[in-house]
Amino acid sequence: MFFMFDTLEGYIQPGTVEAELVRQIDFSRLPAHVAIIMDGNGRWANQRNLPRTEGHKAGSESVKEAVEAAARLGIKYLTLYAFSRENWKRPEDEVNTLWGLLRKYLAEESRVLVENDLRLKVIGERSGIPYLVRRELARVERQTCHNRRMTVVLALNYGGRQEIIKAIKKMVRRKSRLDEIDEDLFARYLDTAGIPDPDLLIRTSGEMRLSNFLLWQSAYTELWVTPVLWPDFRKKDLLQAIVDYQRRERRFGGVEPVQKKGRQ
Ligand code: FPP
Repeated sequence: MFFMFDTLEGYIQPGTVEAELVRQIDFSRLPAHVAIIMDGNGRWANQRNLPRTEGHKAGSESVKEAVEAAARLGIKYLTLYAFSRENWKRPEDEVNTLWGLLRKYLAEESRVLVENDLRLKVIGERSGIPYLVRRELARVERQTCHNRRMTVVLALNYGGRQEIIKAIKKMVRRKSRLDEIDEDLFARYLDTAGIPDPDLLIRTSGEMRLSNFLLWQSAYTELWVTPVLWPDFRKKDLLQAIVDYQRRERRFGGVEPVQKKGRQ
């Protein structure tokens, strides 16, 4: 099946909650980069007496919805925390299901990404990703590398602390002069080099933690936590997050509200 992500017309029905939220959005001040900690798949499944893996399956559908909604809204970068370094501690069949779902997503959605001018980019420790998934990821990244509308960043086998250590090692290997090192230079050694810092970080299922996600990059990011479990996350939740984000004042440590900060 093939979907063209046009604009919001036809996607948002007049008179609905979604339409009311869209009305409240100032499209000239959209967050350029939205990052999401997709949490609560297991609880969603438990509530229904289903195996945890069913929660992840339902969560993949929310991934599709979030990608489509973000692209239609005009978000430039959407980062999804899909597999953390810590997720290896889960039972083997759950780990296999997660990688299997990602392969299925790539197989089913790569055409959607291509046709809708969406780019795929992976951050995280690639060498630890199962070979077949890694190969598919590389294929889709290559296929979409010139796409400009929105970049979908998948954080896979990702850990913020490990990313920082990896960047330090790379930087030290290449730069011997200490006085050359500053924030901008360091950011160029991170996996997210070239990607603006997230403006808005959404976490589902009510937990108030960063869980080793984008630790350097989220220094000034607005955090938005919802009790909604990831498999229940729908476009209206994304719209609500953006409305709330736009009501906040971002001061970056100063006194006056600032539209955007330096390295973006
Ligand atoms: C957290 O829920 C979610 C994950 C560890 C993985 C997220 C993966 C998906 C949404 C599916 C596959 C991804 C793609 C990109 C197609 P949890 O299991 O920690 O939930 P719990 O805290 O309720 O146990």
